[in-house]
Amino acid sequence: MKQQSTSHYDSLSLAFHWVTAVVVTIAFILGPGGFGRLMRQGIDPATRSDIVWHESLGILVLVLTVLRLIWVALRPATPQILMAGWMHVTSKLVHLLLWSLLLALPITAFLALGSEAHPLTLLGGVRIDKMPMIADSAIAKLADWGDVHAFLGDAIMWLAGLHAAAAIYHHVVLKDGVLSAMLPHKRSS
Ligand code: HEM
Ligand code: HEM
Repeated sequence: MKQQSTSHYDSLSLAFHWVTAVVVTIAFILGPGGFGRLMRQGIDPATRSDIVWHESLGILVLVLTVLRLIWVALRPATPQILMAGWMHVTSKLVHLLLWSLLLALPITAFLALGSEAHPLTLLGGVRIDKMPMIADSAIAKLADWGDVHAFLGDAIMWLAGLHAAAAIYHHVVLKDGVLSAMLPHKRSS
């Protein structure tokens, strides 16, 4: 299945990348500030559209990331663009951090909700009121998982911004095809 060399990512990798980037950005914008205060006031999160959309889009990111990782294991060869060694290592490191954050965000969100017995409320009226496996686990007490989650939410946006700036630098200054590798292209016969 592996090809010899290519200048572009396959279409499914492209779709996963750009849909995830858009969904993460919208989830970040809808990040529910003052969530703890609302819960203490006894407000049902299901009545707040920002919370319901934030949690639903966040779960969508988790589903997309799991499917995408399966595709990464199966997909055809990805572009190997020549660049300085430190640049190659840095880009691999940033990708690894982005993958880790894409998984850590939903995990810390579940820990935040479960440890404080807040319900998970999704679009379509889906809700999970209690997560006893999390509430009763030692890990629930290790940190304020809501704070950790909010920190990681900011971190992914900073890192994605840096990653996007690097891609634009490659395109405009180095003109080495890194950005176009992740953009839609006409299939050559
Ligand atoms: C791409 C994924 C996600 C991103 C970028 C993200 C980002 C954020 C950010 C930045 C905040 C803090 C908002 C503020 O204080 O102004 C936040 C809070 C929160 N998010 Fe997410 N989130 C993601 C996924 C999820 C998921 C999957 C869930 C639920 C399963 C969730 C539930 C929450 C909750 C409950 C809070 C309030 C936490 C607290 O203050 O205790 N998030 N999120
Ligand atoms: C939240 C936003 C983003 C996230 C989470 C993200 C994450 C990732 C990940 C995980 C990869 C590796 C993909 C793979 O192996 O299939 C990647 C590759 C890439 N991303 Fe992003 N990305 C984001 C936004 C952007 C933006 C805005 C740009 C451009 C302006 C961009 C340009 C690229 C390029 C050019 C590659 C291929 C790099 C290479 O092969 O070395 N990304 N991104």
